[in-house]
Amino acid sequence: DIHPTAKEGSRAVAQEIATLIKTKEAAGETCVLGLATGSTPKYLYAELVRLHREEGLSFKNVVTFNLDEYYPIEPDALQSYNRFMKEQLFNHIDIPESNYFIPDGTLPREKMKAYAEEYERRIEAAGGVDLQVLGIGNNGHIGFNEPGAHVNSHTRLVTLDNVTRLANAYEFPNMSQVPRLAITMGIGTILKAKRILLMAWGTHKAKIVRRAVEGHSTDQVPASLLQQHPNCRFVIDEQAAQEL
Ligand code: GLP
Repeated sequence: DIHPTAKEGSRAVAQEIATLIKTKEAAGETCVLGLATGSTPKYLYAELVRLHREEGLSFKNVVTFNLDEYYPIEPDALQSYNRFMKEQLFNHIDIPESNYFIPDGTLPREKMKAYAEEYERRIEAAGGVDLQVLGIGNNGHIGFNEPGAHVNSHTRLVTLDNVTRLANAYEFPNMSQVPRLAITMGIGTILKAKRILLMAWGTHKAKIVRRAVEGHSTDQVPASLLQQHPNCRFVIDEQAAQEL
């Protein structure tokens, strides 16, 4: 779906989420959302906050799982995705604290494998993700699944590509402080979601959007693996669509 601007695209995604929350609520079911970080979903979260404040949209019945987090990182660090989610969304809506899950970047290395498996189990126990929101990295990564990530991969600790560390370096005092590792849901985890919406805004995303949508489905462009999902849409602005 191509929208004139990022704001309009974000509003459309917010509307779909709001409708899903209300439909699930009416059926007495919880709404399970998969959430992303980065600059891409900022307008979406601002719009959800607005819908909560101005239109009374309630998140009491919503459970969320975030895609990824740097490793290691303290949850209150400026660059932490735990902090990002609280500042952009959770602190401003009525979601109970026990309803949102963001990977923990503070556990010792030897505990990460069991923790990642537990994260997968929690998603399953919640009934699976109804709607997964994604951004896309310049190299086609989704979550922190870099090129080469297996289509069946699950939540795990991964090594970040240098291009990703460079792209995210602006968040850190300098490049050497960008973590080399991250914990991320896998491609397989993402593909299990019932519906997926990948958002991309701006001319700098146009090339990778084209490769993801029109190129072969290959693990060299992780987002192109979404072609294998039966219910996935790319929600992009005109700038990100200019190479299509
Ligand atoms: C980050 C995140 C991804 C995000 C992507 C794009 O590294 N791990 O989940 O989708 O890169 O970032 P941005 O939205 O800032 O362009």
